[in-house]
Amino acid sequence: MKAIILSGGKGTRLRPLTYTGAKQLVPVANKPILWYGIESIVSAGITDIGIIISPETGEEVKAKTGNGDRFGARIEYILQEQPAGLAHAVRIAQPFLGDSPFVMYLGDNLVQSDLDLFLEHFHANSLDALTLLCPVANPSAFGVAKVDDNGRLLQLVEKPKDPPSNLALVGVYIFNNTIHKAIDAIQPSARGELEITDAIQTLIDWQSPVEARQIRGWWLDTGKKDDLLEANRVILDSCIDCQIHGEVDDQSRIIGRVHVGEGTKIVNCTIRGPVTIGDHCHLENCFIGPYTSIADRVTLIEADLEHSVILQGAKVDRVHHRIVDSLIGQRAYLTEAPRRPKALRFMIGDDCQIELSN
Ligand code: G1P
Repeated sequence: MKAIILSGGKGTRLRPLTYTGAKQLVPVANKPILWYGIESIVSAGITDIGIIISPETGEEVKAKTGNGDRFGARIEYILQEQPAGLAHAVRIAQPFLGDSPFVMYLGDNLVQSDLDLFLEHFHANSLDALTLLCPVANPSAFGVAKVDDNGRLLQLVEKPKDPPSNLALVGVYIFNNTIHKAIDAIQPSARGELEITDAIQTLIDWQSPVEARQIRGWWLDTGKKDDLLEANRVILDSCIDCQIHGEVDDQSRIIGRVHVGEGTKIVNCTIRGPVTIGDHCHLENCFIGPYTSIADRVTLIEADLEHSVILQGAKVDRVHHRIVDSLIGQRAYLTEAPRRPKALRFMIGDDCQIELSN
């Protein structure tokens, strides 16, 4: 069994962060989204992993993720020159996959369920494809499945205006080598991409054994800011334990589950977990509320923030407003105007979103 993880795409919905980096490397609880997928695959016993990368962000994904040693896996990188669709990614991965069955994992998805049970079901029933489903409120934003009472897949449609059910296709699929023939039989969709949904529909049309199973627990597609904040909340809720590696002075209060990284200094702050703070940060006279992730080398002076994600090297210096539900990019700098406290001065990158209140 092998696995491929798709880590290309332009990440348009996470701009401006994705102008300078891959969406799959945006951290959730201070760990790149992509790494959760790798860990889930490895813990299901699959250690031969191909990561599909794009020319724009591939080098960064490679440099950060490495050859797999840190995960106990072997990682090979496969370049997809054009974002020509999920099925196209499988096609270019075929030399890596050979005739092996494989898991395909979309690198911006976070799934709570273990893969083991699904893999067992796939093998025990000699399936050609097993898709994972999750009921959602907005099925039109996803691939949508119609299944019979036994879990057999009857129909799949990509982003339908009129969805046949509320069951969205989660971005994790299990295939055997017949999927390659089905991909050879499909044409690009209206958006010009080879859709994996169409390839699975082709298997259904050929009466191949194709099933779907609903996942238990949460599934998060981290494509947008609020999805990312929600993913951060869910992961911090379940995965953070209290470890203080840095220095916390006597004036500071740490309440609940808070992780403080190495070389980080906390001076006269109140931090109410779950919160994770990376390495080499400096926090002084701050209140940090629940569900906040602060990456490495962040400086926060007299800041008051909660339910937010602050990326590497950002600085918030004496902003006397509470900052909530925010995503602050790498090396961003927020401060109060020194001479005219009521004036607002900005240098805002393309596609940023700023909400001000009185
Ligand atoms: C892709 C798939 C879709 C699936 C979704 C899950 O959509 O085409 O069927 O439901 O991933 O994240 P995309 O994110 O490329 O729009």
